[in-house]
Amino acid sequence: MIVFLNGKYLDAREARVGLFDGGYLYGDGVFETIRLYAGRPFDLDGHLGRLADNLAALDFAWRPDRAAVTEIVAELVRRNGLSGRDARCRLTVSRGGSPDDPLPLAGLGSLPPTVSAWMEPLGPHLAAWQRDGVAVAVLREGFRRGNSPGIKSLNYLPTVLALREARRRGCAEALICDERDRLLEGATSNVFVVAAGRLATPPLSRGLLGGRTRALVIEAAARLGLPCDETDVTVADAAGADEVFLCGSVKEIVPVTAVDGVPVGGGAPGPVTRRLQEAYRRGVRDSLGGGAGGPAGAPA
Ligand SMILES: Cc1ncc(COP(=O)(O)O)c(C=O)c1O
Repeated sequence: MIVFLNGKYLDAREARVGLFDGGYLYGDGVFETIRLYAGRPFDLDGHLGRLADNLAALDFAWRPDRAAVTEIVAELVRRNGLSGRDARCRLTVSRGGSPDDPLPLAGLGSLPPTVSAWMEPLGPHLAAWQRDGVAVAVLREGFRRGNSPGIKSLNYLPTVLALREARRRGCAEALICDERDRLLEGATSNVFVVAAGRLATPPLSRGLLGGRTRALVIEAAARLGLPCDETDVTVADAAGADEVFLCGSVKEIVPVTAVDGVPVGGGAPGPVTRRLQEAYRRGVRDSLGGGAGGPAGAPA
């Protein structure tokens, strides 16, 4: 794998980030995961907009330059033989740092950040998840992402623990909820429920990531004339819903067929989820044009 690190293209095994990097020491940094369709990045502006907002929130002076990131993505596609393939690109910006000031608290803007990017083809399981749906585990305590869950920061230990716990329970994803049993988000996704023809998804004000895909699903629902509320959704609401689905840039839309072992909507993906999967893919195709947006084996 060839990666990008601070202006250079390197073999992944040779790429090194410093011992005093704030990302390594404190999780002081932010990231984006961008989906590529047939070697082309989707919703780059949306991701770079969120990245810029998150960098500002953490007092980074550095901002992504659209043309430069486009060039890095194209170069990584080329150097990794990913043209025409579906992939995901991870872009990370962390504090940098030096032994002279291991915990910088002031003058943050003048510190050169560490900027890296790498990409890999999509895993083989995704098409089956999208087609057949997945089981999810509800995780109640100790799995929320820190004090600033709206920032896609490098503090993802709760997420890693949640995913491990979900897999231990034989589930593909976790649903994280608060102390009052209100759903927040998946470990690495946002969540929607469908009941009586209405969509509902937890509001950002509850403390969750404003997913790019969540925003695009809300737009797609509006185009389809499906009412959608940003409102509290409890675990009981999800278990009793007609349909539940997860969404994220890489996952797109993945039906949920069981919540904590309780089948949702008869245990099979439902019609509203299917319509949204199709509408989302149409949106990708319209945005990228020219035949992109239809990975083999995934719903068209
Ligand atoms: C905690 C969390 N919520 C939601 C999402 C979905 O975000 P997006 O649609 O921007 O990929 C992610 C993506 O990784 C995530 O980590």
